[in-house]
Amino acid sequence: MSFRLQPTPPARPNRCQLFGPGSRPAIFEKMAASAADVINLDLEDSVAPSDKDSARANIIAAIGDIDWGTKTLSVRINGLDTPYWYRDVVDLLEQASDRLDQIMIPKVGNAADIYAVDALVTAIEAAKGRTKPITFEVIIESAAGIANVTDIAAASPRLAAMSLGAADFAASMGMATTGIGGTQENYYMMREGEKHWSDPWHWAQAAIVAACRTHGVLPVDGPFGDFSDDDGFRAQALRSATLGMVGKWAIHPKQIALANEVFTPSDAAVAEARDILAAMETAKANGEGATVYKGRLVDIASIKQAEVIVRQSEMIANA
Ligand code: COA
Ligand code: MG
Repeated sequence: MSFRLQPTPPARPNRCQLFGPGSRPAIFEKMAASAADVINLDLEDSVAPSDKDSARANIIAAIGDIDWGTKTLSVRINGLDTPYWYRDVVDLLEQASDRLDQIMIPKVGNAADIYAVDALVTAIEAAKGRTKPITFEVIIESAAGIANVTDIAAASPRLAAMSLGAADFAASMGMATTGIGGTQENYYMMREGEKHWSDPWHWAQAAIVAACRTHGVLPVDGPFGDFSDDDGFRAQALRSATLGMVGKWAIHPKQIALANEVFTPSDAAVAEARDILAAMETAKANGEGATVYKGRLVDIASIKQAEVIVRQSEMIANA
């Protein structure tokens, strides 16, 4: 164990990030009224090139005009490989109201990508006298992004969250699929004549969680494209939560309740965590570092595991 304490990520609920195209302002009020913790107004891939300017204007107006409640309000800018991104940053930082919390940078490939946006944001904040620093979130969705994920997670104190973007990631990796997240038909093993599906996103997700936890960033699972498949969404989200992710995107409003359900520790899980903490208190009082809880070993590491669940539950309840 390093003597350095693991940094804690921002203490904010991030169970569901709801996306909506900036070119579709008619849904902005519905997004604001939703149960999502984070709103992502999009300037990138859900907006056609001919609509980039008007989408930017729609978003800047809506940031000030709509009551977004206590949600984290984020705008996804265009990638650094496009001619749009600098205008996205300049106009948002110069013109949007202080209600804007965060910028999402897509297709991040290395730490210098974040440095470039950070330099621009820092200069505009100073020039405009913006007193609330904008935070960043990034999407890991390329081979370079996952190869450099640890450097990216450490790139700026502004960095609050990091998501896996399954579709662009699959394309960049040359994966033989057009599915956005979830089970992939051809990713299976055979045993006794039966197919058993495995999880092609597992490695990337675990790498993101490790990078994020090392540097105090929230790890988030990205989109699940088939919004008619509730069970598939839930299964993907449960795997992500089990690996340490704190939330998932919704690309349709019907996915919000599913994400909130999975990423809110259940009453039963919280009750069990509290029981384990109580069992360990008794053990400690008896001078023991380990004890038996419902027929299984619990020890000092179990305290930390149980505390993760209790802390997450309390943070959500108090938000
Ligand atoms: N946020 C809030 N409300 C939304 C919404 C969203 N992202 N998408 C749809 N709605 C609303 C619709 O306006 C409709 O409202 P109504 O009942 O008042 O008429 C209701 O939810 C049902 O919508 P539905 O008809 O099922 O969907 P649609 O055909 O209008 O839109 C999508 C489907 C996928 C095109 C749309 O959900 C969308 O644009 N999603 C986000 C895409 C995106 O941002 N991608 C980038 C990240 S991957
Ligand atoms: Mg993408």
